[in-house]
Amino acid sequence: MFSRGPLAAFRKVAQGASRGFASQSATAKHPVQTALMGVSAATAVAAGGALYYLEKNSAHANMEAEGLHPPNYPFPQKTLFGTFDHASIRRGFQVFKEVCAACHSLDLVNWRNLVDVAYTEEEVRIMAEEYQYTDGPNDKGNMFERPGKLPDPIPRPYANEEAARAANAGALPPDLSLITKARHGGVDYIYALLTGYCDPPAGVEMREGLNYNPYFPGGAIAMAQNIFDGVVEFEDGTPNTASQITKDVVTFLNWAAEPELDERKKIGLKALLMFSTLTLIALWAKRNRWQTLKTRKIAFNGPKSWEKRPTPPPKH
Ligand code: HEC
Repeated sequence: MFSRGPLAAFRKVAQGASRGFASQSATAKHPVQTALMGVSAATAVAAGGALYYLEKNSAHANMEAEGLHPPNYPFPQKTLFGTFDHASIRRGFQVFKEVCAACHSLDLVNWRNLVDVAYTEEEVRIMAEEYQYTDGPNDKGNMFERPGKLPDPIPRPYANEEAARAANAGALPPDLSLITKARHGGVDYIYALLTGYCDPPAGVEMREGLNYNPYFPGGAIAMAQNIFDGVVEFEDGTPNTASQITKDVVTFLNWAAEPELDERKKIGLKALLMFSTLTLIALWAKRNRWQTLKTRKIAFNGPKSWEKRPTPPPKH
């Protein structure tokens, strides 16, 4: 199977390897030394973990500027293989439409994007037709109004940034298409922000038109609290508490920012399964290929004449 050349090379490698092992074992550490090294490594890891935990969960000196760190909420899409709760996306879009769309745009989402995600095509068509869009110019050169169609964007509340600022006392309601990705803390931050309105602490004066929210960097936000118990009525009978409404709208906003999440995780799972199977096959194939060499014993037998030669007398 092997010609002489490669066989000799293999033998050299094999000898080299066994010599390597021998020299390693000669310099092996004392068991006490090994145990001490283990203990110090474990201590370092534990200390790192404790520091990380404290970093994540304690109050900072500059919390005022950074905002309170949001808690870790159990959104299913945050886990390794977890996907979106699509019923929640559907309820969340209803919340967006009925509450947030009065001030916030959603420029990167078109009506058609909702089809087969949270609504049927027919349902989306009916929702789109409730809005009027300016189109044209037509064959007479005039712009005209027509009902919305599937490829149209979700309508924006203001014509441009100036109009938006003018209507909100100078503050700009940001576009919400990518907001869960655009803010440190993602979905947890948005949830904590929307549910986190409270009275300012003693001694803190709020300027006219600003609201106290400890999760907002600086603590004073131009958006007033707008999610309360019962502010929307869900068609599927889900209790319309403020926390449920907020959870749904945050899930919807997360979908808007990462519509590929479900598919990405499905492909990731497939890739993991495929590559781990291939790795096992590769390991097996390697064993199979090398077994003739790994189980070989090479012995050298001298010529017959050597056996008959008398032992030479010892030299002094
Ligand atoms: C009455 C108008 C209005 C409504 C309704 C409204 N917002 Fe806002 N929103 C604002 C304004 C104004 C800002 C800018 C605040 C600032 O910069 O101080 C803002 C900011 C935000 C921010 C960004 C905060 C940050 O970290 O910069 C998020 C997220 C947000 N709104 C989500 C929502 C959601 C979700 C809804 C619906 C449940 C909603 N808003 C409803 C006016 C509104």
